[in-house]
Amino acid sequence: MDIYEAVRERTSIRAYKADPVEEDKLERILDATRLAPSGKNGQPWTFIVVRDEEIRKKLVPACKGQEFVGQAPVVVVACGHEEMAYKKMGGYWNSLPLDIGIAIEHLMLAAVSEGLGTCWIGAFFEEQVREILGVPEGVKIVALTPVGYPAGEKIHRPRKSLDEIIMHEKWED
Ligand SMILES: Cc1cc2nc3c(=O)[nH]c(=O)nc-3n(C[C@H](O)[C@H](O)[C@H](O)COP(=O)(O)O)c2cc1C
Repeated sequence: MDIYEAVRERTSIRAYKADPVEEDKLERILDATRLAPSGKNGQPWTFIVVRDEEIRKKLVPACKGQEFVGQAPVVVVACGHEEMAYKKMGGYWNSLPLDIGIAIEHLMLAAVSEGLGTCWIGAFFEEQVREILGVPEGVKIVALTPVGYPAGEKIHRPRKSLDEIIMHEKWED
């Protein structure tokens, strides 16, 4: 699968089969995650791979009741180290969420090319996830994603057209 096909095929998957994810596939997608770029190559991340069913089920209420988080056989939790991130992006902000966002997108596109589904989870209670996984204070929990085989039809959701989002040479009024 080439990159364009992976980009087109990726959609948020909110229903998963119980089939386990093969360890070699998981290792390949985690390695694609590892290779993501980051501000000043800070690599300000740690990824917790949760396979244990009991822990996955505990994550459901921490993710505001999103049941499919417990349904997928694997959940990856992206943790961020602010002190390792580039602090002055654009002169005024911190690269941590971008760094982690790029890494998660690597994971998601690699997952698609392995026939697996994912879904970015940004709606969660950080303190609850921290407690369940024993994440130390000071380490941010930025995002989670289930990883598993999609159940049911994929839904391709609409996007704005290029005309709506591209300007040429200068800001166009
Ligand atoms: C930062 C961020 C947070 C998100 N949080 C959630 C979430 O908590 N639950 C969920 O089901 N989808 C979540 N999504 C997925 C978006 O709803 C989804 O990407 C968007 O509707 C476009 O659909 P698509 O991914 O299928 O193309 C999130 C996406 C992003 C980028």
